Amino acid sequence: MHAKVVVVGSLNMDLVARAQRLPRAGETLPGEAFFTVPGGKGANQAVAVARLGGSVAMIGNVGDDAYGQQLRKALEVEGIDCQAVSVCEGVSSGVALITVDAASQNCIVIIPGGNGLLTPQAVQRFDALLQAAEVIICQLEVPYDTVAWTLARGRELGKQVILNPAPATGPLPPAWFAHIDYLAPNESEAEALTGIAVSDQASARRAGERLLQLGAGKVIITLGAQGALLVTEQGHRHFPAPSVQPLDTTAAGDTFIGGFAAALVRGLEEGEAIALGQRAAALSVTRAGAQPSIPYLAELQP
Ligand code: RIB
Repeated sequence: MHAKVVVVGSLNMDLVARAQRLPRAGETLPGEAFFTVPGGKGANQAVAVARLGGSVAMIGNVGDDAYGQQLRKALEVEGIDCQAVSVCEGVSSGVALITVDAASQNCIVIIPGGNGLLTPQAVQRFDALLQAAEVIICQLEVPYDTVAWTLARGRELGKQVILNPAPATGPLPPAWFAHIDYLAPNESEAEALTGIAVSDQASARRAGERLLQLGAGKVIITLGAQGALLVTEQGHRHFPAPSVQPLDTTAAGDTFIGGFAAALVRGLEEGEAIALGQRAAALSVTRAGAQPSIPYLAELQP
């Protein structure tokens, strides 16, 4: 069976410390717990697609270390097509050092490892996967050249192209926008992309309209507990977030993206797909870790 969704992106092993609060510069803090779980924005999004009802293939790199084997295995057990998860010799796998505080906030340092070696040519080798897909998803934890190539190829093939611009450090290359059907940043990413401080629906709308002017097809800005805002040429629509008690917000955005894409390829209408992504993300924040926190379709309230 051909995968309907292809994710081009990162795989990381997440080394997670829980502490009462995040450390300040130069400070040593006692922590409360430590665990190691599979993560990486690309891999998390692929897992979310698979658990939420979509068929999915992953294009990415791991290193030739034990983490690489574990990261690949974590996707295989979800039924994800891993033929395009390649092993880079002599390189470490991607790693994320994550601290989560008592208020469920996190800070993350990523070391790209094999993710940094995912070239456009490496993706092109698996063009058959892109050709067979309906939806292609990218993030920004692999080289920009590779994202640029994939977005352009997705547009050329007439696929639905989703970019989750995470992590965002500044504006996107202008040429990318014409290739993006759905641009889906969170508040801080929307601010990095536009220079507009995003804190509520009104500011999200301004940022969304700016991203439309730059050429994005549609914009979905996720606002955490404040829900999500869909901004299109026709107007805007707010989707309130389900109310939950958060434990760990890591991978909530990835769960939203994967749930949204899975719903689209199952034929749900855009608004229903956003709402499903939100329900999945809300459940994920009540659980610890990246991939272990992502729910299955059967767990979601209708
Ligand atoms: O979005 C969450 C992810 O960001 C983590 O799993 C970590 O690997 C980083 O890539």
